[in-house]
Amino acid sequence: MKRTVNTFKKSYDKERKLALLTAYDYGMAKIIDSCDVDGILVGDSLGMVCLGYENTLRVTMEDMIHHIKAVSRGVENALVIGDMPFMSYHISIEDAVRNAGRLVQEAGAEAVKLEGGSDVLSQVKAIVKAQIPVMAHIGLTPQSFNMMGGYKVQGRQLEAANKLIEDAKRLEEAGAFSIVLECIPKDLAEKITDSISIPTIGIGAGPKCDGQILVYNDMLGMYSGLKPKHVKVYSNIGDMMAKAIRDYVNEVKDGDFPTDDQSFKIANDGLNKLY
Ligand code: KIV
Repeated sequence: MKRTVNTFKKSYDKERKLALLTAYDYGMAKIIDSCDVDGILVGDSLGMVCLGYENTLRVTMEDMIHHIKAVSRGVENALVIGDMPFMSYHISIEDAVRNAGRLVQEAGAEAVKLEGGSDVLSQVKAIVKAQIPVMAHIGLTPQSFNMMGGYKVQGRQLEAANKLIEDAKRLEEAGAFSIVLECIPKDLAEKITDSISIPTIGIGAGPKCDGQILVYNDMLGMYSGLKPKHVKVYSNIGDMMAKAIRDYVNEVKDGDFPTDDQSFKIANDGLNKLY
């Protein structure tokens, strides 16, 4: 069933939570899309898990467009959300709308995500006015890595917690259709979830959010960089892949692959007529 922003209306299906994952290429997008997920985020986490950068700050609009194109070709059901990279919505409102538009028009995203609270309200309003649904993202916002002094749980102190509640309310007023809450205390996430009428999508924000998102490489044990506390590794596919690749390499080196099973035969007596 095709998911749209309507799937993300809180009142749509109170019984079931929203399940989202990231994807960055056609093959994985197809697999993930076949598993009943509600949304696929082409996150700027691609900078770390696909491009080998230390953080997300070097990801460009061209990187995002390239990967969103591939993902959207593989998705039939989930809502495809494209992440707006660092500096694509910070310089001017016009720039923000133009770049959001590129993710939709050139790449095929059906919604965009951007990081920030009260500081990005004008961008959210302008992008929504251009008829592009916006997913907001507060708490630990990785593009603010340098300002935050690293990847740290946010909103532990009263003032910061109140600011996040206020930010969530204002983002809803600005027109966001949902909000990612990243790495904040679970009680605060619950309070935010109860304070707004758009769904909260948690990552390291406890079980009371309206939905959850994970980076697929983390939950499948395919990324050997950071190992955040909030990630549950559902299967160690990374180790399984390494074993299969090692088996292949050894079989090639020992002359055990390919066998007749993987080889082709010449037609009838063709062998005798070869030069
Ligand atoms: O870039 C990303 O993958 C994200 C998710 C972790 C929410 O922003």
